Amino acid sequence: MLDLVKKVFKQSTMLSDKLPELMPGGVSIAIDTTCQKIVHNPVAARFFGIEDWGNFSPLNFPSFKVLHNGKVLLTDELPIVRSARYGDEVSGFELEFAFQEGISKIAIVSSCPLKNELGVIIGAMTTFEEVTELIHNTRNLSAHGLSLGLLIDDRTKELREEFDKREKIELEVTKLERLNLIGQLAAGLGHEVRNPMTTIRGFLQILHTKSDLLPYKSYFDLMIEELDRANSIITDFLSIAKNKSTEFKRQCLNTLLTNLFPLILAYAYSQDKKCNFEPGEITELDIDSSEITQLVLNLARNGLEAMHNNGYLTIRTFMDDQFIVLSVKDEGTGIKPEDVLKLGTPFFTTKENGTGLGIPMCYNIARRHFAKIEVKSGSEGTTFLIRFPQHIGNGAI
Ligand SMILES: Nc1ncnc2c1ncn2[C@@H]1O[C@H](COP(=O)(O)OP(=O)(O)OP(=O)(O)O)[C@@H](O)[C@H]1O
Ligand SMILES: [Mg+2]
Repeated sequence: MLDLVKKVFKQSTMLSDKLPELMPGGVSIAIDTTCQKIVHNPVAARFFGIEDWGNFSPLNFPSFKVLHNGKVLLTDELPIVRSARYGDEVSGFELEFAFQEGISKIAIVSSCPLKNELGVIIGAMTTFEEVTELIHNTRNLSAHGLSLGLLIDDRTKELREEFDKREKIELEVTKLERLNLIGQLAAGLGHEVRNPMTTIRGFLQILHTKSDLLPYKSYFDLMIEELDRANSIITDFLSIAKNKSTEFKRQCLNTLLTNLFPLILAYAYSQDKKCNFEPGEITELDIDSSEITQLVLNLARNGLEAMHNNGYLTIRTFMDDQFIVLSVKDEGTGIKPEDVLKLGTPFFTTKENGTGLGIPMCYNIARRHFAKIEVKSGSEGTTFLIRFPQHIGNGAI
């Protein structure tokens, strides 16, 4: 078949005359092996910005650059020069033509030597197709794809955060509902249980003064002590349940903590543990002294109980944005992630003699102060952070 085409080519000079002109792509012909003169068909001429069949050689234009994969090609590396000088055949080579004034065009180039009947190279021919628009569109498309991907990633992250936030709120609501229910039960139960207890305590007190029961005095003391303990547990429990009115007074939290610290220190020393108070520069705030005292004591006691000997309990105050933060940090064993979620649920305890009312009491006190409790726990210990607004009723939480 190819032979037939060759025959027709030989017979019809018109075909070879017309072919470069009719070609839909660019055709550039080097008329000798030096490539000093290269003529271009109309498509190629338009590409280079010259007149049809004009002479334009990259060799004569030092400011004209041809790049492959971002690297500027040397003269000898240009496809047409390779074909004309060395007889190379080049096929499907992507080249970027960097013109002056920042214009850049991209083309897929093929090139072959032109030989006479004796097989001697007399020039070279290059054909090419401009793909600038195609490449730019592809690049734009992948850039769009990338930004679309980023947008989807961002949105997914936002949705996940929103979902986590909702899950946390639902947990909080469940906890509050449970607290509320227990509160209602407690209010009734506490009252009912206390009455018979008061009667029993009264009789025990009478009996333990009787001379004939003197040998059992220590038993009576123990019974009264145990009854008092039960009574104090009920008091603690009721303080969670009841929405007791809080007496706010504007004051400095550091002063309250300075007064309280010796008590915590003594308690820590009695267990061979250490304690530190680092007051920061904080503004005054509205707090109920007795409630905050209870909160700090509960947290400090938990921290100390969680630590081995020589462990350090650190109480700090500092400002975070517009919030006053009280931090109680221990070097204890930490709280298991699944248990962190249970904190604040009445009677949740991991201690043999614990009541599980300390933390719920803290949550209630914090709630009444419009403060928020954050718990960070790991193998190096636990930190309770209580964030107080500077002014209550500011809707800061
Ligand atoms: N700082 C802490 N380090 C490790 N675990 C803690 C800490 N604080 C609280 N916990 C865990 O939370 C549980 C509940 O604490 P909470 O203070 O409510 O009750 P408790 O300490 O068990 O008993 P009590 O009523 O005597 O305080 C604890 O049993 C413990 O498992
Ligand atoms: Mg406790």
